[in-house]
Amino acid sequence: QQRKHTFIQQLLAKSLNPAPLEPSQPHGFGKAPVNIALSKYWGKRDSVLNLPMNGSVSISLPGLGTETTVQPFGGQQDQIELNGQVLDHSVVFAKRLSQFLDFFRSAACPAFRVVTQNSVPTAAGLASSASGYAALVVALDDLFGWQLAKTELSLLARLGSGSASRSLFDGFALWHKGERPDGMDSFAESVDSVWPEFCIGLVKVNTQEKAVGSTLGMQQTVETCDLYQSWPPQAQRDLETITQAIIQQDFHTLAKTAEHNALSMHATMIATWPPIVYWQPESIAAMQIVWRLREQGVAVYFTMDAGPNLKLILQTQDQAIVQQAFAEQSTPVEFILPFQRQ
Ligand code: DP6
Repeated sequence: QQRKHTFIQQLLAKSLNPAPLEPSQPHGFGKAPVNIALSKYWGKRDSVLNLPMNGSVSISLPGLGTETTVQPFGGQQDQIELNGQVLDHSVVFAKRLSQFLDFFRSAACPAFRVVTQNSVPTAAGLASSASGYAALVVALDDLFGWQLAKTELSLLARLGSGSASRSLFDGFALWHKGERPDGMDSFAESVDSVWPEFCIGLVKVNTQEKAVGSTLGMQQTVETCDLYQSWPPQAQRDLETITQAIIQQDFHTLAKTAEHNALSMHATMIATWPPIVYWQPESIAAMQIVWRLREQGVAVYFTMDAGPNLKLILQTQDQAIVQQAFAEQSTPVEFILPFQRQ
């Protein structure tokens, strides 16, 4: 906690507000989208400051995410409300959030009331911790009037959950690995691109709670997987390839590299002990639909995270044919167009 505290002090020193822990208004509001990594974050070089072994690049999904209101609370403990329900303090989500809020308490604000609403997609299985911590830091910035830059808020969100560092941005975001032991250079920033044909398809295999969370899963992988040593250099290369492909709007290079990157990450998970296998039979069936479509000349690819669901990567002109191929196997796909108004 001490190292996190020092990090936050360092960061808030950049604030425009000379008394950063005095609320500047009655409540703060923040909103952030979920994001899907195209080149993944898997493994930490520093688990206190959430510093990654490698950088990652993502696409945010508009319309899916978190809205959070935060205000000072008169009670002894925080009051945390998620999707209309006040949570018990023993719930892991509430505990983790309160621990994060510990850094921002003051005499003027000893406890917080946090009201969080996650928009639940029909095809769920999307990590809400990323949009959750990003929305929370935006709400805190609003409450305290820090006026921190987005890259600085990204540093703060990273402490809550690594992937949250990327959820401060719409469109593509690049989270730099950083080199400094104090973590001040490991933040995300926007990759400038407007790509109206770029499309993500959410394939719901199973929306139940994951068996092994990302934090524990990546820790076990780093500790026990011999294959893991090949991951950071590959991920760093893939990140560069994908970032270039975004700039050049080279769909095939981007999507091919993203699928290969996801499968390589899952290979390290499977080679962990005890093994971490997020796939279900339906996940493999969905992959086979994608591969069959590609054999037929359709440019569709997929990525997967710490769960059984697939996220398809395609272009708008192939939406109908992809939808039909999945419908034939009774699998609905929810399409999201990150660069078009929803
Ligand atoms: C597979 O950001 O959830 O989705 O930093 O421990 O909170 P913590 O982990 P988290 O991990 C996300 C892992 C991933 C890949 C990615 O989003 O890059």
